[in-house]
Amino acid sequence: MILEVSIEDACLKFAKNESERRLISFPFRFKRAHFVCELEGRIVGRISANLSERDPTRGYVGMFEMDLSLQDSEGHAKALIQAAEQRLLSMGVEEVYGPVNYSTLFQYRFELPRSLNGSKEPVFFWEPSQPPEYLNWFLGAHYELADEYHSRAFAELHQILPKSEGRFQAALTAGFSTRVIDMKGAPERELTALAKINRGSFEESFLAEPFDEKAYVALIVPQFYTYLSEFSFFILNPAGEEIGYFFLFPEHDYLIWKTLAILPEYQGAGLASFGIHHALSLAKMHNISKVVSALIRKGAGSEQLLKRGEDFLIWEHRYGVFKKRLIA
Ligand SMILES: CC(C)(COP(=O)(O)OP(=O)(O)OC[C@H]1O[C@@H](n2cnc3c(N)ncnc32)[C@H](O)[C@@H]1OP(=O)(O)O)[C@@H](O)C(=O)NCCC(=O)NCCS
Repeated sequence: MILEVSIEDACLKFAKNESERRLISFPFRFKRAHFVCELEGRIVGRISANLSERDPTRGYVGMFEMDLSLQDSEGHAKALIQAAEQRLLSMGVEEVYGPVNYSTLFQYRFELPRSLNGSKEPVFFWEPSQPPEYLNWFLGAHYELADEYHSRAFAELHQILPKSEGRFQAALTAGFSTRVIDMKGAPERELTALAKINRGSFEESFLAEPFDEKAYVALIVPQFYTYLSEFSFFILNPAGEEIGYFFLFPEHDYLIWKTLAILPEYQGAGLASFGIHHALSLAKMHNISKVVSALIRKGAGSEQLLKRGEDFLIWEHRYGVFKKRLIA
């Protein structure tokens, strides 16, 4: 049986952990609904559906889960997806994207199948990952790939590092510098700077929604708090103002290059290359010889940042976000 649950019930019956409870109970501005599949008093599946704030004809489905041990898990999954779509249709949605947990500020995308020897590669906590059945069920429900993303691992950083030396020196000479993100010392100042850079630089990203500073501070920042180290830093202009930031951290024996952003008015001047050179120098000092560029959109300008490493690529993981037209 498919049931729609209130936000309060979603926190109790739908959320898997505390961080999901915080996400679901957050007072977002957009309209949303949560459905569960209940069998003999037990919750065996779930899905969320919500409206885009930017485009009222766009909707998202996300947080999808289904108990795979059921006899007809596929049938129940279909019913959940349909319930979410029906609700979006009734809200005026024409096109739905998924899996997207409310917006691309939070978890989204399915992992796409890996190459044959891909099972030997590490799994990272920030990677989308789901049972392969989920992807098949969405494809079966006529979702098609809307956009592809990749994480790429590069080895032999000592060979890649010299390639950005020129950009690094030029930016230093022009007066640019770096400063470690210091959440313990001056959290207010750091949050203001991060919010300003995010608001400016991700505005044009695929499926971007209006930047929600309150949600960012309450839900995103706490997640990366524990990963902050000297590898996460601001880029400062000659006046000492924060005009970009890099959020990187070591995981397994890789340096994860998770988020980097430069304010639009400073883009195209080699400042991302400047920051990358700084980060790779730090990696070298810590004897880290491999890097992963995380979750980059295929074909995006930021792919250009990887070209200096392309001879040293060791693996690639792929992910996708899917879409479906609800009305012809
Ligand atoms: C991606 C981003 C960080 C790049 O910052 P940037 O300071 O403009 O990048 P740089 O000027 O250092 O350029 C780096 C290299 O890529 C090249 N490049 C950058 N954008 C390019 C584009 N759109 N097309 C072709 N080449 C491009 C530059 O020529 C440079 O190579 P070079 O040093 O060999 O000349 C910036 O555009 C941004 O903040 N975008 C929005 C946020 C985002 O998408 N972040 C990445 C995913 S987390």
